[in-house]
Amino acid sequence: MVAREVCHGIFWVGAIDWDRRLFDELIPLPNGTSYNSYLIRGSEKTALIDTVDPAKEYELISNLVRKGVERIDYIIINHAEQDHSGSLPMILEFFPDAVIVTNEKCKDLLVALLHVPPERFKVIADRETLSLGDRTLEFLLTPWTHWPETQVTFLKEDRVLFSCDLFGAHVASSDLFMQDERATYISAKRYYAEIMMPFRGSIKGHLEKVRALPIAMIAPSHGPIYRDPAFILNAYGDWTADTVKNEVVIPYISMHGSTLKMVEQLIEALVARGITVKPFNLARTDVGELAMSLVDTATVVIATPTLLFGPHPQAIYATYLANLLRPKVRFASVIGSYGWGGKAVEGIVKMLDHVNVEILDPVIAKGLPDEAAMKGLERLADDILKKHKEINIV
Ligand SMILES: Cc1cc2nc3c(=O)[nH]c(=O)nc-3n(C[C@H](O)[C@H](O)[C@H](O)COP(=O)(O)O)c2cc1C
Repeated sequence: MVAREVCHGIFWVGAIDWDRRLFDELIPLPNGTSYNSYLIRGSEKTALIDTVDPAKEYELISNLVRKGVERIDYIIINHAEQDHSGSLPMILEFFPDAVIVTNEKCKDLLVALLHVPPERFKVIADRETLSLGDRTLEFLLTPWTHWPETQVTFLKEDRVLFSCDLFGAHVASSDLFMQDERATYISAKRYYAEIMMPFRGSIKGHLEKVRALPIAMIAPSHGPIYRDPAFILNAYGDWTADTVKNEVVIPYISMHGSTLKMVEQLIEALVARGITVKPFNLARTDVGELAMSLVDTATVVIATPTLLFGPHPQAIYATYLANLLRPKVRFASVIGSYGWGGKAVEGIVKMLDHVNVEILDPVIAKGLPDEAAMKGLERLADDILKKHKEINIV
């Protein structure tokens, strides 16, 4: 993709990955992604903000060559992960005088992950500034906005925040700036759920610092640039807030239909009580959609049959992931069917050690759910409603 002007003297020189469908060999990418790298021309110095995934390094080089860039003085690295830093070794070869500017932790990681020569670095501290002549970069360390070394860079005169992964979205688009608010909101929420949610506590703190800057534009390293910073800052404010919604997420799996009958009954019982329900069939669900639903749901009910003395492996995978993502969910329960001795419930409950949830009494059935099990599901729906009322979300 050809380089494009973000504003006077600032250019997008990154790459668009239209076909990529999986990130970190884990996260589905229904809309591809982009690796945004930015070139800033100051009156005295030129800086490159982040690089691109190594699979696309020739696109970055080609953009710089076609823009007639003969010298890069500084390469600002906001995050050591290879989708932003992986082209650094090649850029260092093309621009032998360029100095990498980043924080101490990021330097350590770049030396370890990419074998970047330590003598090529200038290490900066939190709130340190760097002059490009008529333009000034200010660095804000924002640890755990994904990794421990993450930082953001603020271009003071133009009021542009280069936020790297923070505020990003996995979207391949020919539009440089956000056009479709609804579509961008969903992509950014999915990205937050998959990448940022485990660090909700740190992000909340960093949001305060970022909000205090007079930002005119947010330019992340994945997805569109925001000319209306409030759009994404407010969305992050909502997602990181402690509030939850009157919703129940039900990740479920059923081999022969018995657990499915229980799920169907629970959905009806919850809907009858005015609660929004989001079921996800784990045999075919996109884990990104499931992660997104966990951003603000109050309750999760995991539904699994017993298989070889424990939960179904798909339920184990989903529970493991949900636990790692540390959603702000408040209540959880388990339902499911067994044949001769159900141990699935204990297995699932034990796995929920990273989330601060109250476990509501599970419901299990031997084979097809009988009347007692159906009543149990009504009771579970009552319990959920009562709990949602107690926290004032109904
Ligand atoms: C491969 C397999 C392994 C199973 N292992 C167990 C088990 O260890 N303990 C048990 O109580 N039932 C076991 N069952 C029986 C199922 O838990 C039982 O049929 C249950 O009703 C299935 O629920 P579903 O229709 O939602 O899949 C097993 C069934 C299958 C197909």
